[in-house]
Amino acid sequence: MSQHLLQLQGVSLSFGGLKALDNVSFTVRPGEIIGLIGPNGAGKTTLVNACTGVHRPSKGRIVFEGMAIQGLPAWRVAHLGMARTFQIVQPFPRMSVLDNVAAAALFGGGIRNMREAREFAAAQLDFVGLEDQAGKPAATLSLAHRKRLELAKSLALKPRLVWLDEVNAGLSSADLDNTLSVIRRIAARGITIVMIEHLMKVVLGVSTRILVLKNGALIADGEPAQVISDPAVVEAYLGAHYTQDGERIHG
Ligand SMILES: Nc1ncnc2c1ncn2[C@@H]1O[C@H](COP(=O)(O)OP(=O)(O)OP(=O)(O)O)[C@@H](O)[C@H]1O
Ligand SMILES: [Mg+2]
Repeated sequence: MSQHLLQLQGVSLSFGGLKALDNVSFTVRPGEIIGLIGPNGAGKTTLVNACTGVHRPSKGRIVFEGMAIQGLPAWRVAHLGMARTFQIVQPFPRMSVLDNVAAAALFGGGIRNMREAREFAAAQLDFVGLEDQAGKPAATLSLAHRKRLELAKSLALKPRLVWLDEVNAGLSSADLDNTLSVIRRIAARGITIVMIEHLMKVVLGVSTRILVLKNGALIADGEPAQVISDPAVVEAYLGAHYTQDGERIHG
């Protein structure tokens, strides 16, 4: 197998006259935890959508495990082993939390019967710390809990790569350590992660590499320490210097 899990070559995507992605190229190797950062409107979610079959790129190639996947429908991409969470969460509102995850397991996790699907779903809820919400209708969850439900649903697809689109939004800073631990435990399951995240403490706490998007273009790709001290990244996004632990340096 190729040493690249995912490879983007010159991917562009326009919405009318707006170039949301502009000639983006990078590779993801198995086992990486990549932090994808950039200002609001930079194209981060659009990049996830382009890679997971929601939007078809206008140009370029996307290769996942050696197979060109640009333009494939979202369900095929999910079946091939690439999952994602949605920034705007949309569970089946009246279905229980458990059955929302079981539905994902039946759909993409290769599980054929409901009993097994619910067992597997319960394990995913346990994993993200949502086991005590399992019987509730999904619509009754708080935003932070709906974000975790998204995570459990994406894990139920048994992915080899997962895109996490702001899964931590709405979490209190007290939940931060727990969040970091969940991300590390996902990685420990052998799942490669590309994480969109605004909290630099989280990004720097777990990322093995950082990508920076600005106006649809990739302006940095490298080791966290190198990327956060890059003047172009400080100017475009960070607005300040950070230590490698994610503490803002004042002055
Ligand atoms: N379906 C769409 N139709 C038209 N324009 C879109 C669509 N989706 C995104 N855009 C535009 O593309 C650009 C990139 O948006 P995107 O949502 O990818 O940014 P983002 O980096 O995820 O931002 P945020 O940090 O706010 O989530 C923005 O200008 C946005 O308005
Ligand atoms: Mg977004």
